Amino acid sequence: MNWWRDAVCYEIYPWSFADSDGDGTGDLRGIADRLHHVRRLGADAVWITPFYPSPLADGGYDIADHTAVAPELGTIGDFDALTARAHGLGLKVVVDVVPNHTSDAHPWFRAALAAGPGSTARERYLFRPGRGRLGELPPNDWQSAFGGPAWTRVSDGEWYLHLHAPEQPDLDWSHPAVHTEFERILRFWLDHGVDGFRIDVAHALYKAEGLPDAGPGQHEDPARNHLMPYYDQEELHPLYRRWRTLLDEHPGVPGAVSPEDRLLVAEAAVFAPDRLARYVRPDEMQQAFDFAFLEAPWDAPALRRVIEGSLAATGPGRAPVTWVLSSHDAVRPPTRYGSPLRARSAALLMLALPGAAYVYQGEELGLPQAWVPDDRIRDPLWPRSGHRERGRDGARVPLPWSGTAAPYGFSTAAPRSCWLPQPEDWAALTVAAQDGDPDSTLEMYREALRLRKAWPAPADGSLLWHSPSEAPYLAFTRGRLTCVVNLGARPLPLRDTGLLGRTVLTSGPRDFDDVLAPDTAAWLLVES
Ligand code: GLC
Repeated sequence: MNWWRDAVCYEIYPWSFADSDGDGTGDLRGIADRLHHVRRLGADAVWITPFYPSPLADGGYDIADHTAVAPELGTIGDFDALTARAHGLGLKVVVDVVPNHTSDAHPWFRAALAAGPGSTARERYLFRPGRGRLGELPPNDWQSAFGGPAWTRVSDGEWYLHLHAPEQPDLDWSHPAVHTEFERILRFWLDHGVDGFRIDVAHALYKAEGLPDAGPGQHEDPARNHLMPYYDQEELHPLYRRWRTLLDEHPGVPGAVSPEDRLLVAEAAVFAPDRLARYVRPDEMQQAFDFAFLEAPWDAPALRRVIEGSLAATGPGRAPVTWVLSSHDAVRPPTRYGSPLRARSAALLMLALPGAAYVYQGEELGLPQAWVPDDRIRDPLWPRSGHRERGRDGARVPLPWSGTAAPYGFSTAAPRSCWLPQPEDWAALTVAAQDGDPDSTLEMYREALRLRKAWPAPADGSLLWHSPSEAPYLAFTRGRLTCVVNLGARPLPLRDTGLLGRTVLTSGPRDFDDVLAPDTAAWLLVES
């Protein structure tokens, strides 16, 4: 069986993982030094978000050079050492590819600005004349995902498209040079030993012919994303098939997985399960994050509908579902669900489901969303939303490793010099504080990953529901492991579920007397 079908992949946000040189910013050596934490957790792979040269207008997703390492984070030699260390520990390495846009500091965009309207240099991006008598209006009504128009006007009067921040001009994927360049980028990182790629905003690269207006309500209902003229276009799929062939055919390098085991994972914000399933057809990508699961409320019937929808669309015999509860873009689960206990229970739910799962750094520590003061916010969402949305920095503050005060072992720099500030009350949440404490979230995650390996889901990815579909709890069996989550307001006697078995893990008190408290989950080994 391919490793990625039921893998647990640990997401590392390199600016905030570990700082080895005391400049207040995480770096590649810091990651290499701490990979044993990921190994000890029991993950199979690391996905490292962009570590490429970037003006940091969007947390590193504004890339000025796709085949180099940001000087703040290290060198290409550090990347090679990190990959070698990961492979030595049995961890695969997945890196980000960001093909929808470049930074406005990328040489291509600089050349496009300098060359002026009508130049070939502009053809690699989406420059257009404006509407209105003097071209003073944007070419269409598209809105940026971060708020405001998706177009910015340059001094010579033309407008360029940016579905995200103005510092992230969109590439024109109908241009052959864009294809050649990204094939070069994929080959470059394969030659540096990576085992797979996470494809950023994989649903957005192609725009509908003629760039038609999108109409009202854009970004209001994610379930309609696939209907937008800038998302989920048909041309994406032949592109990903070509990339899959490239991955299948590129020669292997020592230490990395063999070509047929390489991974492409789609970050596609497409919520209709049948549309998302199209990204993971047999000759396309292997995984696509299931964001519908992340977005689902703490409600048993709602969660069950999402789980069943995802399993049905990908499910038995086809691609596995790739579950995700948190990322550098999402509000941390204890804050999102309203309690640390719910977040722990959601983790046991996710890790019991058949398929693959991603764990974002700090999720295993139960970190809540951090409060970042106004004057330290870096996320472009904050200014672009007219200071209404604080953005994603609260999920990106540096990881607490040890000690009782900031920077909690993240760095030797003064807390004030760290690139984002950590909260003052995280002493009990550090890796060192939780290590060895059987009640800690860290030890719960370690045990969950161990048990999930010991009792794998059946190869066909099937699960058997025990709970009625409208019940306030969820109960199902995958292989020999049974998971029960009480999302209701009342205690749930396990005998009422008809499930008898040995409790091997719970998200709440360990010595519970077969009555599952509200918001609590348990894993049982049911004797066959
Ligand atoms: C993805 C990234 C996010 C970034 C956006 C634009 O959604 O996860 O952090 O802002 O793409 O590149």
